[in-house]
Amino acid sequence: MTLEPIRVADGLLTYDPRKMLAASGGITLERLTAFAPALARAEEAIAALRASGRARGHPDAVLFPSLCRLGEGPNDEATLGRIEAWAEERRGVLDGAISIGIGGSYLGNRMLHEALRGSYWNELSDEERDGRPRLWFAGHHLDPICTGELIEHVRGLAARQESGPLRIELIVISKSGTTTEPLAAFTRLEEALGRDPAIDLGITAVTGPGSPLAELARARGRPLFRVPDGVGGRWSVLAEGGLLTAALVGIDTRALLEGARRLDDALREGGDDPRRNPALLYAALHHLLHIETGRTQAVLMPYVYRLRALSEWYVQLLAESLGKAKRRDGTLAPTGRTPIPAVGTTDMHAQTQLHQEGPLDKTVTTIDLASWGSDDAPLPGAPDGAAGLGTAVAGRRLSALNRAAREANEEALAAAGRPSDSLTLERLEEASLGALLQFLMMSVAYEGELLDVDAYDQPGVDAYKSIMREKLDGAGARGRAS
Ligand code: PA5
Repeated sequence: MTLEPIRVADGLLTYDPRKMLAASGGITLERLTAFAPALARAEEAIAALRASGRARGHPDAVLFPSLCRLGEGPNDEATLGRIEAWAEERRGVLDGAISIGIGGSYLGNRMLHEALRGSYWNELSDEERDGRPRLWFAGHHLDPICTGELIEHVRGLAARQESGPLRIELIVISKSGTTTEPLAAFTRLEEALGRDPAIDLGITAVTGPGSPLAELARARGRPLFRVPDGVGGRWSVLAEGGLLTAALVGIDTRALLEGARRLDDALREGGDDPRRNPALLYAALHHLLHIETGRTQAVLMPYVYRLRALSEWYVQLLAESLGKAKRRDGTLAPTGRTPIPAVGTTDMHAQTQLHQEGPLDKTVTTIDLASWGSDDAPLPGAPDGAAGLGTAVAGRRLSALNRAAREANEEALAAAGRPSDSLTLERLEEASLGALLQFLMMSVAYEGELLDVDAYDQPGVDAYKSIMREKLDGAGARGRAS
């Protein structure tokens, strides 16, 4: 067996693992070959999960793998039709929307928005946005300054708008409907923006069945979307909550799901063969390097600036899914890999020194694009009278410099005995991004099987949430009594 780049779904995604073993500090091809029975068991467990919607040891359904297959899981034609109709009704009507949520009810929405709409979306004109609203995010912290800034910004826009009230929609996303941060932001924003006569405020809720947020939406006759049963927050980017804000800004949600499905088809066809199933190979290599050579720190480093929020989304996916105290049989065995978000080439001038010479505990996964589209024109020649200035860049494309930087980083890491691997998307668009998301989610699911942990619960998050609730209830009771 040799390790070669694996190109799947006609090039939507390519995984190159070649530098993982070259610098693995002891993991050999023979070791990987001998690991085949564990990979076969992991694949069998994931195949069973796909078929039954159940994961061993987890009490609830686990349905995220089928989100990309309309009619075979929580998403169907009616779901997408409702989302599209909701977004279309608001096109040319809404001036802005505020997506309120935290964790899995925030990170995926922000990641899709930044990846496919960029940082300057809210500064574009209505025409440039094609009638789609501006989009802000709130409820992912308890910072009064930041929340106050958003309120002032929106009220300022309203004060300057001459064509009637500023139409704003609060999109409140919370599976439980009880999380402190989004509830606090919602009440603050509703109160502050709702009493401004220059603002026309609407509300849409996305929540789990029976949550207090669902009751509120029903009582007020506001649109209500689901976080479906069987889809936990960090696995929900391709469910209604993630798709809703994407559709609102004109992202092609069908193409996103189609890319995820094509990638998923390739994984299913690859089965337990790591040379044909790149998500299984990714999980196997990172698992072996973690367990057998102490590579516990996972740097995810897109060399695509718009994907920097992807690193943050992946932090939650990896940390909450694999960071577990116990195996599924209840044995105490604290485990997990620590995700480190980075972005190339920015962090080559910040983190790379540590990756290159610090503790031998890291893997570095880079992400690049095969094609950068029309923005990637050659740079001009060196300025007149300054022939020495910029000869390294003159006439080259930024993407070529970017690739050279990535490859230089990977080669330097390998030379220093540090493993890295790379993912290349065909281009920065819906289908490739959908494929990447499905790849990362499935690789974490496989790794959960290899570690034998429940990748779908989050008892650590639940623990602090319940302590915090007790503190607030106690403080509330004391406050009311005094
Ligand atoms: O993955 C998870 O379940 C959590 O991190 C949640 O996404 C986060 O706590 C937000 O929860 P909720 O959507 O219930 O407000």
